Amino acid sequence: MQKKVLVVGSLNMDLVTELDKMPNVGETVLGSELRYIPGGKGANQACAVGKLGGSVKMLGCIGDDEFGRIQKEALSKSNVDVTNLKITNGHNTGAALIYIDSEGNNSIIVIPGANMECDIEYLKQKDLLFQESDIILLQMEIPYDAIYYAISRAKELNKIVILNPAPAPKEIPDETFNMIDYLTPNETELLKMIRGTSLEQDSMKKAARQLIEKGTKNVIVTLGERGALFTNAEDAIIYPVRKVKAKDTTAAGDSFVGAFAVALAEGKSNKEAIEFANLVSSVVVTKKGAQSSIPERSVIDKLAQELL
Ligand code: RIB
Repeated sequence: MQKKVLVVGSLNMDLVTELDKMPNVGETVLGSELRYIPGGKGANQACAVGKLGGSVKMLGCIGDDEFGRIQKEALSKSNVDVTNLKITNGHNTGAALIYIDSEGNNSIIVIPGANMECDIEYLKQKDLLFQESDIILLQMEIPYDAIYYAISRAKELNKIVILNPAPAPKEIPDETFNMIDYLTPNETELLKMIRGTSLEQDSMKKAARQLIEKGTKNVIVTLGERGALFTNAEDAIIYPVRKVKAKDTTAAGDSFVGAFAVALAEGKSNKEAIEFANLVSSVVVTKKGAQSSIPERSVIDKLAQELL
């Protein structure tokens, strides 16, 4: 039977524009049209789980406004159970300003808004969802104390914990590392977490190993066009990803994590789950936007067949 996924995290409206190149300090540049696309790391991951055929509920906060309503509807259409989202009066729905350059790279500014109201009290009110889920998936765009509470509650209940440490915190409490089954930083986040200066100096495998030594069971470093590095106490393996021409890397990491959770929920091995997640994110980067770029399961199954 398929395991149930609970995503605890952020929901944003992405305000996206494309530029030839990122502006320097003090420089004004022209962008293309402005597009409004549902995003937020939590919502993107939940969307990926839903679109890829997983059973998923989401906990998070939106404002009582148009952006919140659009986000809720979009997630619901992607098969995410949104009935437990909190609609707050105190803040507007979170937003993100996203610039995409001609290479498909992005820069993102997040304005958290209602996401900051995703607090411990709300999570305690929704304890039943923790109890009935098997995999708890978190990122770092809601208050840190709520994230650490959710992780410890999930572990108390013996659930599988996946933490996508994005945006990377300066530090994670020592006791939390022991409770994480899968930690999924990208290279920048990995570097920040080990307080390294460059990955030439601190080789990536060594860096991931440091997080294992802190108590995390498995670390998966997403490496963009180079694939993903899986590390645990026994192994350190790089899983390459198929080559594509990237148009927009927004939500590539989110869809990787969501896809990985779906595959685990289906009982796949770590290797199979990473290969599936690589395939999904290789499709996501060829499309524009966050949730708008996440494919349905049928697209991935067909592609997997073609690549056999
Ligand atoms: O990971 C991409 C996401 O980061 C965007 O959708 C944006 O909302 C920010 O949360």
